[in-house]
Amino acid sequence: MFQQGMVGLESVQTIMKEENSFNKIPSLPAKESKDLFATGLEVRNLHYHYSGQEQATLENIQFRILPGQTIGILGRIGSGKTTLVNCLNRYLAVEDQQIWIGGRDINSLSNSDLRRSIRTVTQDPFLFSDTVTNNISFGKQEDEAGVIDLEQLLYECALDEEVQRFPLQEKTMVGEKGIMLSGGQKQRISLARAMLTPCDLLILDNVLSAVDAETESFLLKQILRKQHAQSLLIVSHRAKSMEKADWILILEDGKIVDQGTHAELLERPGYYQETWMLQNEMAN
Ligand SMILES: Nc1ncnc2c1ncn2[C@@H]1O[C@H](COP(=O)(O)OP(=O)(O)O)[C@@H](O)[C@H]1O
Ligand SMILES: [Mg+2]
Repeated sequence: MFQQGMVGLESVQTIMKEENSFNKIPSLPAKESKDLFATGLEVRNLHYHYSGQEQATLENIQFRILPGQTIGILGRIGSGKTTLVNCLNRYLAVEDQQIWIGGRDINSLSNSDLRRSIRTVTQDPFLFSDTVTNNISFGKQEDEAGVIDLEQLLYECALDEEVQRFPLQEKTMVGEKGIMLSGGQKQRISLARAMLTPCDLLILDNVLSAVDAETESFLLKQILRKQHAQSLLIVSHRAKSMEKADWILILEDGKIVDQGTHAELLERPGYYQETWMLQNEMAN
């Protein structure tokens, strides 16, 4: 047991040390932090290679997200979408000179500046064994401005009716020590958490795929009102989620193989057109 404990401790120390390299970066002065996203996000020649994998998972990825824009990324399962998202929010370490936010290399930003600017709702959200309310509001600082009310947020995330049916409504415990939630409910709670305070770029990684088509279009409508974020990155394997985006990237085997507006992509033969037709036929 002692040996196992020591191995565990070593792993923890490795992780703590790893994080320290970013923890040491001082945060920007308030004004610069606030204006961080002024010129948006730029990805230039991004490569990502998981250690132990034979091939690179992402190759030569280039695109920009300007303030106010909604960008869609469509690709089949395994095409590298989540890997790309995890590079953008620095869950994965990327080399310098590949990703910039407001002209600053992502690796030069402190954790708090980065997390304030870019917020991600992942495809496997983590919920604490706590109440619905606490799961949504745990990231909120007491003095943070722009906090909207929870009831409104539950409505926008299509959770209001379901939460009303929980035994103690929003005070209901969820997770291990409470009621079990469906994948879709977890994702919507995690969406509500991300929308609690404003950010510059909200990334949704397959968030809308666990709900039915009607709920998906309701959620998209709420999110696209952009009350909570100036820019959006919507990642999905469903073409329908891309329809309202200003610009759509098609990811295949870790490369961007096509891009354009919904109308452009729908017109030319290719993955988008095929996927759109197939998925819309299935829905009808
Ligand atoms: N932690 C990891 N270690 C090694 N390979 C991974 C890891 N995560 C994903 N991959 C591989 O990278 C590729 C892209 O996966 P992913 O980014 O999850 O795609 P998507 O989100 O489009 O489904 C897959 O071949 C997957 O097996
Ligand atoms: Mg994924």
